[in-house]
Amino acid sequence: MAEAVCAQKSPYAIDVEDGRAYFWCACGRSQKQPFCDGSHSGTGIQPTRYKAERAETVYFCGCKSTKNGPLCDGTHNTL
Ligand code: FES
Ligand code: FES
Repeated sequence: MAEAVCAQKSPYAIDVEDGRAYFWCACGRSQKQPFCDGSHSGTGIQPTRYKAERAETVYFCGCKSTKNGPLCDGTHNTL
């Protein structure tokens, strides 16, 4: 399996919609960060589904090194 690459060393703040499902790019190769655009093809990495429980601002990991994907857990501060 290929390694995830860092898209950016900070999270993406996204205003999510109540009840909507999102597919976070875990591989770092998407051109539509922080979401999957299919560019993971051939890497063996799959996107992570995130279902919004309410309308709010969510901080999706941009560095792809979080241990709490798809959410930022502060790991980007150690890179
Ligand atoms: Fe990165 Fe799909 S493009 S997981
Ligand atoms: Fe990846 Fe914060 S952006 S842990």
